Amino acid sequence: MKQYEPPFVTLTLSDGTTIKLATKRDRFDRVFIDTSVLFSQYGVCAYDVGLQSTAICQSAITFINGEKGTLLYRGYPIEQLAEQHDFTDVSYLLLYGERPTGKEKEQFTEKIRHNSAIQSELHLFLNSFQHDAHPMSMLLANVAALSSFYQQDFDINQPEQRKLAAVQLIAKIPTLAAMAYQHSLGRSPTPPQDEMGYAENFLHMLHNVPGKQYTPHPLFVKALDTILTLHADHEQNASTSSVRAVASTGSNPFACVCAGLAALWGPAHGGANEACLKMLQAIGDESHIDTYIKRAKNPDDPFRLMGFGHRVYKYYDPRAKIMQKICHDVLKVLGNQNDPLFKLANSLEKIALEDDYFVERKLYPNVDFYSGIVLKALGIPANMFTVIFAIARTTGWMAHWLEMMDSSYRINRPRQIYLGFPQRDIT
Ligand code: ACO
Repeated sequence: MKQYEPPFVTLTLSDGTTIKLATKRDRFDRVFIDTSVLFSQYGVCAYDVGLQSTAICQSAITFINGEKGTLLYRGYPIEQLAEQHDFTDVSYLLLYGERPTGKEKEQFTEKIRHNSAIQSELHLFLNSFQHDAHPMSMLLANVAALSSFYQQDFDINQPEQRKLAAVQLIAKIPTLAAMAYQHSLGRSPTPPQDEMGYAENFLHMLHNVPGKQYTPHPLFVKALDTILTLHADHEQNASTSSVRAVASTGSNPFACVCAGLAALWGPAHGGANEACLKMLQAIGDESHIDTYIKRAKNPDDPFRLMGFGHRVYKYYDPRAKIMQKICHDVLKVLGNQNDPLFKLANSLEKIALEDDYFVERKLYPNVDFYSGIVLKALGIPANMFTVIFAIARTTGWMAHWLEMMDSSYRINRPRQIYLGFPQRDIT
């Protein structure tokens, strides 16, 4: 990136007007031009479809260097966190800024446990869904319904109440997610278990059948826990910026999380893992890879290689490497090292990474290229993949929401380039 001398850059409009814009630098000395005064002082606007070059806030939570493939949570590299910490530590770190001490972790875990049960009215509400409803629609509706229990007494201006709301959401989202899955199978929900950790508890609530106790393999628990850590936050992505946009109006945190869930659901974001597995199944055999690569490269074909490419990473997504290893380890435990989908994914990755189209556009596998295979191996069906992502990302959404509520912010109100009719009269 080019360097500019602070504190100003000068913008000259075509009529000769000179505008001095202040610059800011981030922790890694990247330069940001403050364009916020453009309209109020000069009557012109910045135009940036998809917010590709626009910072929407200042944040101290997560840092990504997409050129180098670096991801830091509160300064710590994702590789170190995934190896040395569990998702509960990572949640604490994202929410409060530092890794927990033993005592802090104990108290945080206890708070999560204490808040993980779901109001009985929500069980009735869930029963009104058809069994083939997508679990994301059930989760979204249930989180919205959850807000009805907290709206009246909740005061967004009280920091302690905000912290409690964040814990409530992180605690309840796996329970709601597992309930949605059990409902889709026509089974009654399994309640959360006090003695289990976050990931283990979720797997238990997901797969347990009354009278037939489900005990997950420790490596499966570790695999799911790492998946949650890898998906916990990713700075101002589509869903987090949606949460912030809704939060800017003063909405309650449950409604903000609904915005995040809705944004996450799309195949260009959190729906990619489900879409990627479906794509691998559709390719079916290594002999078909060339056909799909050709389709992905054809500008007239809407098909894209799912799990490939990223708005920010123009190098290997560091999470994809960790995910590939988890995939290998889980399949080994299952005695399934030669899993055809894993082999197919490895071959597809190799071929794409040697193809000029992908090389020139810097398209690498992202976190979701391998996550679907791992989740499938854990016995989780494809329509639950985005739900698992949502469980993890709720922590990130809440960290950003808390940070935003603690800072000064303004309601999000972008501008547009109007190209419709000029004023006309109804005759
Ligand atoms: N397959 C084929 N071509 C691709 C792909 C892909 N997966 N991704 C990008 N391209 C091409 C585009 O067609 C475009 O080509 P062009 O320059 O000839 O027009 C070029 O690469 C740049 O792509 P953009 O769409 O401008 O990139 P953008 O940053 O807007 O999109 C995105 C990023 C949405 C992730 C995109 O790469 C994609 O759709 N990937 C597949 C879906 C996916 O895996 N999403 C998960 C993202 S990670 C996450 O949310 C956890």
